[in-house]
Amino acid sequence: MGLRETMKIFLDTANVEQIRKAVEWGILDGVTTNPTLIAKEGRDFRQVIQEICSICKGDISAEVVSTDAAGMIKEGLEYSKYAKNVVIKCPMTAEGLKATKALADKGIKVNVTLVFSANQALLAAKAGATYVSPFVGRLDDAGQDGMELVGEICQIFRNYGFKTQVLAASIRHPMHVVQAAKLGAHVATLPFEVLEKMLRHPLTDKGLKAFLDDWEKFKHLPRK
Ligand code: E4P
Repeated sequence: MGLRETMKIFLDTANVEQIRKAVEWGILDGVTTNPTLIAKEGRDFRQVIQEICSICKGDISAEVVSTDAAGMIKEGLEYSKYAKNVVIKCPMTAEGLKATKALADKGIKVNVTLVFSANQALLAAKAGATYVSPFVGRLDDAGQDGMELVGEICQIFRNYGFKTQVLAASIRHPMHVVQAAKLGAHVATLPFEVLEKMLRHPLTDKGLKAFLDDWEKFKHLPRK
């Protein structure tokens, strides 16, 4: 397997405070939103997408809500005027594929969402998607191994040199991120709580406390 440039970390949120924090930590490559996440913020759609796009310069996914291709294309063209880094999220349906192809042909990046099988991912890649989003946690919830699907898609895309990137979505805990990275997923999109958990380790806190306590105790002692 060829080496990837880097594994990208996206936040799966429409909350601008969370996005700002992750940008300050210097590790954020992009953001995914969906209608549920946008609704949670209770803000105007355009305004929140534009604010996210100005905080994080990476790819920002904004999801269409039409169910027919013509409607999705119309929404996609509209959203793509919001900012240069908007990516249009289309659902994995026949209409979604048509819209993906039409938008991709116009040079607009598309993230095909709600992917639950390798066949769906293959079709999305053939339609010209920039990203496909297998939903790991939701498959786990349904008694299937979500990460196995991520591995299958990575393998299929490698076999044929598809440029489409595998975006591991519906991530529930830090081990999902490690597993996605081991499999070679291009991106993992995480709730902020998972990102926070990734950076913490009790031994780091314990070790730091001991170093600082020792420094306080001994810093005034004369040195030779
Ligand atoms: C992906 O882009 C989706 O927004 C997201 O990962 C869905 O995850 P959930 O299963 O936690 O809602």
